[in-house]
Order: sequence, then C-alpha cells, then structure tokens
Amino acid sequence: MIGLLGATGAVGRTAAQRITAYGLGPLRVGGRDLAGAADLAATLPGTAHAVRVDLNDPGRLAAFCDGCRVVVNCAGPSYQVLDTVARAAFAAGADYVDIGGELAAKDALSTGGVPEGRTAVFSAGVMPGLSGLLPRLLAKGRPLRRLDLYVGGAAVFTPLSAVDALLTRGPKFGTPMAAWRAGRVAPNTLAPLNGVTLPGFPVPVHAWPYLTTEAQTLAMDTGADEVRSYNVFVTERLPEALTASWAQLPDTDPATLSPATLAPHADAVVRASLQDNADLGAFYVMLFTGRPRPGASPGPTRVLLTAVDSYALSGVVMALATRAVLTGSVPPGVHLAAEALDPDATATALHDDPLVEELTIR
Ligand SMILES: NC(=O)c1ccc[n+]([C@@H]2O[C@H](COP(=O)([O-])OP(=O)(O)OC[C@H]3O[C@@H](n4cnc5c(N)ncnc54)[C@H](OP(=O)(O)O)[C@@H]3O)[C@@H](O)[C@H]2O)c1
Repeated sequence: MIGLLGATGAVGRTAAQRITAYGLGPLRVGGRDLAGAADLAATLPGTAHAVRVDLNDPGRLAAFCDGCRVVVNCAGPSYQVLDTVARAAFAAGADYVDIGGELAAKDALSTGGVPEGRTAVFSAGVMPGLSGLLPRLLAKGRPLRRLDLYVGGAAVFTPLSAVDALLTRGPKFGTPMAAWRAGRVAPNTLAPLNGVTLPGFPVPVHAWPYLTTEAQTLAMDTGADEVRSYNVFVTERLPEALTASWAQLPDTDPATLSPATLAPHADAVVRASLQDNADLGAFYVMLFTGRPRPGASPGPTRVLLTAVDSYALSGVVMALATRAVLTGSVPPGVHLAAEALDPDATATALHDDPLVEELTIR
C-alpha cells in the first residue's frame, strides 16, 4: 500500500496518476475533503481508495500511515509540515517521499536518529528537486569551469505554494545576489538580468540571482569553479510582489507567523502570477549550461527542459522518487531528491513523459 497525502492538489493529482500508471501498488489517497479524494480515486487507472485525514491530527495521521510501504506527501505548506508526516511514516515502518521540506525538514527529521533501514526523500519536485539533479548531467566525469542555472516561467501560484515561496528565505534556503566561486558562497557578486533573451524561454525574461542551498550542494558535489543560479520571471510583477511582502513580513521564525498575517501577502503573489498568466499563458523552462575546464573530456554543455505545467511536472518527479524508493535505488537515510535520485534514469523517464514538451541534453 502507498499512502498519498494531498492527492487532490495541483502536484498530488499528477503524482497519483503516475504512481498508479507505473503500477507501484494500491494507493490510499488522503486529504481533509473526503469527497474530493474519493472523486479522484475513482478516476485513477489502478486500485485506489480515499481516506479522510488532516495531517495535523496525530491519530488520523498514524492511522493513515498504518500498513503503508511508503507514505508520499504532496500536502503543504511545507514550512509547517516539516518532518510531521515523515515521523508518522517512520513510526508506521514506512519509507517517505515529500514534495518539499528542504534542509529544514531534513535536519529536523535527522535530529534524534533515523530508524535503521528507513528512507526519506525530501524536495522531490521541480524546484527544489530537478533544479539540483538535472545539472549533474553536465558534470559527469569532468570538472566544470562554470555552471549556470535558469529556472522559471509563467506559472499560476496556488495559495499554498505562494506561502512557501514567501517563506523560502534565510540561510537554510539560499542567498540572493550571490554566486558560488572557488569553493564558497561569494555574496553580492551578481545583479538581476532584466529583459534578457535565453534559450527555451519564449519571451525576454527577468532573471534574479538566488544561490539556493541546493545549488551550493550541487557546486560542492560537482566541483564546479563557479555556479550562478537564477529564478526567472516573465515580468517584474512577481519579484515586486515578493520583495514588497518580504519588506513587510517580520523576519521571525515562520512558525510564529499566523495564517492571517500571511494571507494578504500570499494573495498578492497569486494575483501577480495570474496577471502574468493572463498576459503570456503558462510555460515553465529549466535551462542549465556548463562550461568545462580547458582540456576536460567532451560532453554535453546544455540541458533544456520545457513544460506547460510545473505543478504537474512536480507530480511526475514525486512518482519517480516514489518508484526509486520502492525499488531500492535510494539507500536508507534522509536525503534531498537532487542528491539521491539518478540523473540519467530521471531524465530518461521525463523524456518519455507526455507532460514534458522538450528535454534535450546536448
Ligand atoms: N518542489 C517543488 O518544485 C514544488 C512545486 C509545487 C508545489 N510545491 C509544494 O507542494 C505543496 C503543495 O502545493 P500545491 O500547489 O499542490 O497545493 P494545493 O493545490 O493547494 O494542494 C494541497 C493538497 O494538500 C491537501 N491538504 C492541505 N492541507 C492538508 C492537511 N492539513 N491535511 C491533509 N491534507 C491537506 C489538500 O487537500 P484537502 O484540502 O482536501 O485537505 C490538497 O490535496 C506546497 O507545500 C508547495 O509549496 C513544491
């Protein structure tokens, strides 16, 4: 049995479809709205049934996890979920896959030890997730002089994702305007690129430097001399909405911020994304370029992935991570997907997925 929380959401719906389509096993789909979960279960190609569960209700969550081989969490907001569902999964003897979490959840779950033989994979989406995994295809067996990462497009934010976007700041997430140079974070080295034309992006875009902790690990793992990482926006509306909210939100532990404090800021982010979408439609692009050191062996220098729906694409990544855990391709322990999944196997699966418009490695 696979337990999937948040199956009716923008990410979870596709995760449910792919998990059943891959034939990974019977599915228990959970959420607070039982009728919505039951409607979804009825549309899935494999065996699936719905269960009412609120992840903040420890008794219901434990019952949901009971009997599962793996618990898959597509519910958020991630800053609140942290290691709550992972701990319930481990207590039930199940492995775990989460759409979010990043270092904050990984560290929280790792504190106090992990039961022997159990596996957890956090941040198994597009970004974080693919954004730290696919660039590894450029660095296989050869050192890079420089690695550039551009990820973004015109995607409508769900309110949950908007809240997480607002709260992914601080040292556990990344450093704005920084690059990675000569083995360390080099602060205040990059500036936004405004109105820049980039391969794969259908319109000129605004690229904001943000050296995520995921990009920092990527830099260390690949030994690249320099890494530049950009969040890409199609207009200035979203960076302006995010910047205005950050200026107004108190710089405290996110757990102390009430939903009422966050709601108007999340609304502003959602509205900005809806306006972008109304102007330009939906698209999502991941562009990674690598320049090898002089004398390095030949290999690909560019990975380009395009899709219409980044949430659905994240659902595909969740299903691939679930399959990797179930087949034993991920060793026991607590991992981030970008470091634990196989870049080649993931790229091959994505290439064959109808939700991916283009995936070229050249
Ligand atoms: N890594 C990435 O690339 C990436 C990409 C996109 C999104 N995300 C993250 O994924 C998470 C989900 O985003 P989304 O856009 O899919 O959200 P969404 O469309 O609002 O879906 C949320 C899902 O979670 C369920 N849910 C919410 N609260 C719950 C609770 N307390 N207990 C049980 N189920 C609950 C909802 O069902 P009910 O309302 O019925 O409970 C729904 O099925 C967010 O944390 C977001 O930041 C990550």
